[in-house]
Amino acid sequence: MEKSYNRLLENNKNWVSEHLKLDPHYFEKLSKGQTPEYLWIGCSDSRVPANEVTGTKPGEMFVHRNIANMVVHSDMNMLSVLSYAVEVLKVKHIIVCGHYGCGGVLAAMGNKQYGLIDNWLRNIKDVYKNHRHEIESIEDITLRANRFVELNVIEQVYDLGKTSIVQNAWKNHQPLHIHGWVYDLSDGIIRDLDVSFKSADELPSVYKFEE
Ligand code: CO
Repeated sequence: MEKSYNRLLENNKNWVSEHLKLDPHYFEKLSKGQTPEYLWIGCSDSRVPANEVTGTKPGEMFVHRNIANMVVHSDMNMLSVLSYAVEVLKVKHIIVCGHYGCGGVLAAMGNKQYGLIDNWLRNIKDVYKNHRHEIESIEDITLRANRFVELNVIEQVYDLGKTSIVQNAWKNHQPLHIHGWVYDLSDGIIRDLDVSFKSADELPSVYKFEE
């Protein structure tokens, strides 16, 4: 047990020396500040590391992860990350990235009780309820779960667009695009779900704030 834990600190030392070999000022430069172009909202799942699957380096991507990549409009953690990313860092793209085989989404499809997490899964169950007919029309259980993962991402992109943070950025003509992606654990490929928005005009009018 100790060994696997110490391995992380050993890895870190190697990682530092590898970077310093290529650029002796690497950490000195990074410590001066960050100007990431992207905010990633992804799942906490250990198999979907944001930087690694997108080939981005430290400093390039601001990251928020939670179970099943949710945008819950009463979640102070997500809202604080979003606010800082949009208003201070002025990221240009926000990406909600789900993944097939997501444990949170699969749990939300069933009726088993898991404890405290059930309160979080409730938000995903609401997505299911809204798309029940489409989801249940798919016979194959894997394909059904995959579609639910996609629909969940799409709903989270909409929910992002409904926040005052994103809407105010659009109102102020700040360039900001929001996107929905899904990562496939079985082949490592990210698929763009083509739900990109760059203005509030593309949202259902009930969610649009007055200019
Ligand atoms: Co997941």
